[in-house]
Amino acid sequence: MEQREKILVTSALPYANGPIHLGHLAGAYLPADIYVRYQRAMKRDVVYICGSDEHGVPITIAAERQGVSPRDIVEKYRENHRSSFEKFGMSFDNYSGTSKPKHHEISQGFFLELHRKGYLSEKTMSQFYCPHDDMFLADRYVEGTCPACKTEGARGDQCDACGRSLDPTQLINPYCVLCKKPPVLRQTSHWFINLKQFQGQIKDWLDTKTGWKDNVKNFCYGWINEGLEDRAVTRDLKWGVPVPLEGYEDKVLYVWFDAPIGYISSTVEWAEKIGQPDKWKEYWLDKNTKMVHFIGKDNIVFHAIIWPLILMGHGDYVLPAEIPANEYLTLEGSKISTSKNYAVWLDEYLEKFPPDPLRYCIAINAPENKDADFSWKDFQARNNNELADILGNFINRSLTFLERNFDGIVPPQGELDSLDRELLDKINAAPDIIGSCIEKFEVRKATTELMNLARFANKYFNDQEPWVTIKSNPGKCGTTMNLCVQISRTLAILMAPFIPFSVATLWRMLNQAGDVIKQNWNDAAIPAIAPGHRMNKLEILFPKIEDDVIDAEIEKLKNVVKANQQITQSKPKEEMEDTRIDFEDFQKVELKVARVLEAERVEKADRLLKLKIEVGDETRQIVAGVAQFYEPDELIGKTIVIASNLKPAKIRGIESNGMLLAASNSDKSVLSLLTVDKPIATGARVS
Ligand code: 2FM
Ligand code: ZN
Repeated sequence: MEQREKILVTSALPYANGPIHLGHLAGAYLPADIYVRYQRAMKRDVVYICGSDEHGVPITIAAERQGVSPRDIVEKYRENHRSSFEKFGMSFDNYSGTSKPKHHEISQGFFLELHRKGYLSEKTMSQFYCPHDDMFLADRYVEGTCPACKTEGARGDQCDACGRSLDPTQLINPYCVLCKKPPVLRQTSHWFINLKQFQGQIKDWLDTKTGWKDNVKNFCYGWINEGLEDRAVTRDLKWGVPVPLEGYEDKVLYVWFDAPIGYISSTVEWAEKIGQPDKWKEYWLDKNTKMVHFIGKDNIVFHAIIWPLILMGHGDYVLPAEIPANEYLTLEGSKISTSKNYAVWLDEYLEKFPPDPLRYCIAINAPENKDADFSWKDFQARNNNELADILGNFINRSLTFLERNFDGIVPPQGELDSLDRELLDKINAAPDIIGSCIEKFEVRKATTELMNLARFANKYFNDQEPWVTIKSNPGKCGTTMNLCVQISRTLAILMAPFIPFSVATLWRMLNQAGDVIKQNWNDAAIPAIAPGHRMNKLEILFPKIEDDVIDAEIEKLKNVVKANQQITQSKPKEEMEDTRIDFEDFQKVELKVARVLEAERVEKADRLLKLKIEVGDETRQIVAGVAQFYEPDELIGKTIVIASNLKPAKIRGIESNGMLLAASNSDKSVLSLLTVDKPIATGARVS
């Protein structure tokens, strides 16, 4: 028996740090789902894998902002994503998450194998550290101005505006995203993957990908031509896959090292769930598997260069065959923004509308080769004028006519005229035409072709005028209605990958056995409904969407824009009244822990005490205005805090080398020395 081709399809693992919006759907999910549903209908051996990306800075920042643990965040959003995806009909075979133990184990195995093969090297380098938050600022913890396109707010690992992948130290005017203060550089050690040694190999491999989209190839060649730099695959973070090497226990793997391995671990989980634990190997360890990664354009470098290189380095595993990366979807002409809440969230959409109109609207306007825009008016028009008025209307008028005039029973075909033959030709050609568009990842064209087929069917009904022939030529009328039923079935099978919920209803109306999504794609070419077959009762496929419903959605977005503008406009006022100082200014003052060794009154100065203090290895003299509140003896042995880098000053002729810190109330009736709440060596820096 001929071995069936194995197809492994993945959709980018979304970060589990917030709900899913329609930009996500348009980029990596809907096109993949359509592709997979089509491949299943072609009876190919396909597995569709996804899950959530649960590590990295996007997760820990979300956790810090919401005041909960990273684990709380990932569990909440993994479930949120899984449920939104399910309601939109994303037909994953498995949906996993990268914080699961199996994923940790597999990722550590990959790291160790690359390490064993000598593809990793250890380097000590300077990295941004935030003294205020007391942590290294990995990746998105630093933002600043992109060195390439000069856009502000570029993230430490990547600039969204120009797509360039960055090293945080390249940012101009960097700042910590938590406290907005400039970071300092500190030494740390990390493991690097030696990309340079793969440069030739990866270029040769890319050269073989002649059919890849221009956006993907151009991006990769651009990167390679600049020369591949070695990249750190570990991070100073607490949340992630622990680095499995001694001395590195408190570091984790870089999220982009472990995330794509999530495709493997999710496949492993799937194999276990179906009770065939080794089944994943049939896909991942067979070089003939066609692996297809659906992603958004911001993920190109990681999927088309770094990930294949990790796979090449490890050996044994299949490499990506196709990486159909999509461009961005804008919303009412503006960039979708999670942080500005400027988005259509899938869970909110589903409270008001069924999933298929959005699936259709995105599919026919997918951002395949350039950015595309979603507008609510277009959504309404696509639903009302296309789904309802063309497809829905054709089905409705055909089945109503059949019910009224033929008791809902399919009449036989009689002699065929040229229009009938044209319709049969269309039915015959449709699976190949639509299928080849999908094979080439041309979802827009496939959707347009399908709607054109429905348009043709509607016109056929008009042109054949069955309401006339029912009286003048009942045999011809029967032929017309027979063919209307046949093309309805063809449309149901071929539209199943695009609007699966609606065609399930249509399938029921056509009284067809089994599940429409289980039908064989190529059977759609055959007019298979036999005369005498009885239709089921009619249902409405696509209710029209009223203006007021759409206007409310537009209004909602306008309000978001307004609220964002108010935030921006209120800023200058705040800045005018702002007496805050920059962290840099604060950092200039060196505060240190000290201990009082000796204390005595200053003659003729009833407020002053002369103190001898220990600051680390040093002994210093300071003069402090605390005599009205403390007896000299009381102070001896006390731990205090001083500003240690003030220029020496003479107070009443006595040199003072530093300043002691104390708090006093507004009328200066109480004064309290600052001290520390745990024993700590003198000289320790206070920050
Ligand atoms: O950009 C993102 O949302 C990433 N979480 C995509 C990861 S894809 C894969 F490698 F897991
Ligand atoms: Zn900070």
